[in-house]
Amino acid sequence: MAAGLRGITALLLLGGLAAGVAGTSPDIKTSTTKASDKLILTCNMTTASYPLTIRGHEWVHGDKVLQTDTESTAFTSYTIEGKWEEHSGIYECVYKTDPDITGQVNVSVPPQVMAYKKSEHGNEGDTGVLTCKSPSFPPVSFWAWYRNGQEPIINGSGRYIIKSSGNKTELRILKLNIEEDTGDYHCNATNSYGSGSAVVNLRVRSRLAALWPFLGIVAEVLVLVTIIFIYEKRRKPDEVLDDDDGGSAPLKSNATNHKDKNVRQRNAN
Ligand SMILES: *[C@@H]1O[C@H](CO)[C@@H](O)[C@H](O)[C@H]1NC(C)=O
Ligand SMILES: *[C@@H]1O[C@H](CO)[C@@H](O)[C@H](O)[C@H]1NC(C)=O
Ligand SMILES: *[C@@H]1O[C@H](CO)[C@@H](O)[C@H](O)[C@H]1NC(C)=O
Ligand SMILES: *[C@@H]1O[C@H](CO)[C@@H](O)[C@H](O)[C@H]1NC(C)=O
Ligand SMILES: *[C@@H]1O[C@H](CO)[C@@H](O)[C@H](O)[C@H]1NC(C)=O
Repeated sequence: MAAGLRGITALLLLGGLAAGVAGTSPDIKTSTTKASDKLILTCNMTTASYPLTIRGHEWVHGDKVLQTDTESTAFTSYTIEGKWEEHSGIYECVYKTDPDITGQVNVSVPPQVMAYKKSEHGNEGDTGVLTCKSPSFPPVSFWAWYRNGQEPIINGSGRYIIKSSGNKTELRILKLNIEEDTGDYHCNATNSYGSGSAVVNLRVRSRLAALWPFLGIVAEVLVLVTIIFIYEKRRKPDEVLDDDDGGSAPLKSNATNHKDKNVRQRNAN
């Protein structure tokens, strides 16, 4: 089911992307062409108005140089292989001229939301912390949390505190309660290209649950002690009887021998 949702998300992305790609420089036309497993970014300089000498191209993302060449063409392209939705951001094509001319290609996607942990465990009475993040471009403009699908969680209401920054949101639930708080929480991120969400499952354990392994050992010891105690209790009267029966017979070895002796004596009688 998660794979299906991803597929739908990918389809939605394609619609959003087309609008988001354009050159910032009036001299460079930019475009993106998408396929299921790659995205091709292009820059095409309108050389008619700029009879420049181009010594080469560079493709840059953040502070990383992704590709370089020494061709003098007005057209240059870069391909993002694989899951390109995970590589959203601002890409630049740099034309090596005097001075350099840079075109900008924005790879914009709806937020690709991830839960920091898909399932969280908390102890009754503690504070539960659920976290989601989105590394996508453009940044998230709005975060929302929902409980069990629909119920929106309002910051400051009840035991809820929400802290959101551009990439990250954190839901804190104070004084965890087993009945009220166990369940699924959806974090939903929205930017100008759409929205995305992830689910965090919260399980609240009873405080006693943490003690169970210890209580188990205590119970085991108690059972053992009881067994030994009962065994001792049942054995002692036998020994006392043996002594009475034996009368003058001295205690030489263990109880078993005594018993045998007694049986033999009784049989003889
Ligand atoms: C690309 O993104 C940057 C940063 O948000 C923005 O300033 C710029 O206008 C965008 N370019 C296009 C063509 O949307
Ligand atoms: C680049 O743009 C020019 C027009 O400015 C066009 O004639 C040419 O076909 C374009 N090149 C590519 C590879 O799209
Ligand atoms: C929620 O409320 C707290 C204080 O009550 C505040 O610090 C925090 O920024 C708020 N979070 C959001 C997402 O508005
Ligand atoms: C968002 O995350 C990126 C790294 O994934 C980081 O460089 C950037 O500073 C973060 N932005 C905000 C607003 O937190
Ligand atoms: C997120 O919230 C928005 C606004 O409430 C809604 O339109 C969208 O369907 C939600 N997205 C997801 C993935 O839940």
